[in-house]
Amino acid sequence: MKKVVVLGSTNVDTILKVDRFPLPGETMKMEDKAQAGGGKGANQALAATRLGAQTSFISRVGDDGAADFMLETFKKDGMNTDHIIASQTAGTGQAFIIVENNGQNSIMIYGGANSEVSAADIEAAQDVIKDADILIAQFEVPMEAIVAAFKVAKENNVKTILNPAPATADIPTELIKMSDIIVPNETEAQLITGIEVTNRASMDQAAGKLLEMGAGAVIITVGSTGSYYDTGEATGFVNAFKVKAVDTTAAGDTFIGAFSTKINDDLSNIEEAMTFANKASSIAVQTSGAQVSIPYENNVQI
Ligand code: RIB
Repeated sequence: MKKVVVLGSTNVDTILKVDRFPLPGETMKMEDKAQAGGGKGANQALAATRLGAQTSFISRVGDDGAADFMLETFKKDGMNTDHIIASQTAGTGQAFIIVENNGQNSIMIYGGANSEVSAADIEAAQDVIKDADILIAQFEVPMEAIVAAFKVAKENNVKTILNPAPATADIPTELIKMSDIIVPNETEAQLITGIEVTNRASMDQAAGKLLEMGAGAVIITVGSTGSYYDTGEATGFVNAFKVKAVDTTAAGDTFIGAFSTKINDDLSNIEEAMTFANKASSIAVQTSGAQVSIPYENNVQI
């Protein structure tokens, strides 16, 4: 069984369902509202856990009821929660998610305890990183912690997956160089490379630029269309499974967690791992909410 460590955020998601996004200055009624567990880090860790990896999660939560509720889910699914610290000075992070009728979303984040994840937290958790096969991180926790974690991983031959989300152009060069696989969506790929990603030629170009910047391999996720890869030796596109999306929240997180459970060290099975990840993510978009929508391994039949 693969050992995966995820470093990242834990959020309580407040989901607001609307017919369409409101216009500036407009007051409008919601169709529905709900709360669910979320956070890019937590979603990816839960996906890796449910889809077959022995998973440890490095994160911070508040000393509050929201944290208790999420830790219970993590433990029930078998995730190692030993490196989730309860901050005394900030509450559990929050996300406010507007979901339109067509399943598209817009997300606003309040960092809370996620903003307190530090290089010292990584030092305290270094043994679990050293012992892992794969380390995954995204950008909802401070950059200094991510850089520190990737350094530990690289010094110990642990493969690294960087999901540069939420999008930012401000990524330390050394972090891209320490990423064995970088997994942006089209928007993130464009922000990092300056190349607008609209078709296969621009995917080739953007991925080429990311390889030039030092990434070991590139996967660009392209929503309901599928996902593109460039390993430096081969490129390809793996089509998505066609389903009716009700909420795309955590689709990308499910993809990354699922992918990490299947990918070989030498990337020799990249198309197979991406097909499995596409399938898991196509299941996630058919249910509303982040963590509640992430499937278990026996539900993902190709
Ligand atoms: O990627 C989806 C996640 O982004 C949501 O669960 C929300 O918490 C935000 O972090």
